[in-house]
Amino acid sequence: MFSNLLFRLVQEAEDILGSHQYVSYEDLGKLNYTGLVMKETLRLHPSVPAFTRVMEKDDELGGHQIPAGTLINVGVYALHHSPKHWNDPENFDPERFLSQKDDNDTGCSTHYAYIPFSLGPRHCIGQMFAEFEVKVLMSRLLKSFKFQLVPGQDYGYEDPKATLAPKDRICCTLTLR
Ligand code: HEM
Repeated sequence: MFSNLLFRLVQEAEDILGSHQYVSYEDLGKLNYTGLVMKETLRLHPSVPAFTRVMEKDDELGGHQIPAGTLINVGVYALHHSPKHWNDPENFDPERFLSQKDDNDTGCSTHYAYIPFSLGPRHCIGQMFAEFEVKVLMSRLLKSFKFQLVPGQDYGYEDPKATLAPKDRICCTLTLR
């Protein structure tokens, strides 16, 4: 399955970038499959696995009375892995996002279930920049190099911090295409 996924990514990078060694603004809008893979990666491994908000006033949340001033931990990771909102949540399936109608509809039961950049007035100000960056790097690197995972890695996460990262990084051998 992953070799097919990789094949499609490389194919897209080659088709869209052609012979040039840079990614133009127009190219960004055409790197559709790369965008789906990025979205699914941020669903399964959200860089910001949780963030906090403070209740401004007394309110009810999920059947619980919450007093003003309470710190609420928004569990992005838990939401992104919840079978309540996602079919087969542990499965890496970029095409689950194909059913989305627009950027606010991720094809799951509610768009509030996909929040890698948070939502609302304090959502990530760098979202678009970050998405451009990922597309530029992925397409450029995949077009130029073959990636081979170094065997024997455990791919576990670092101890929880504000951001989520692999414990021992992810080591690959790169060869020129
Ligand atoms: C994959 C990359 C990124 C992810 C997943 C991400 C995610 C997030 C999330 C979830 C928040 C909300 C945190 C909270 O409410 O407590 C946030 C806020 C923020 N992000 Fe990002 N971010 C990314 C990249 C970037 C980049 C590249 C920049 C700047 C160029 C940036 C600048 C900011 C700023 C300034 C805020 C605070 C916004 C505010 O409080 O009004 N982020 N980000």
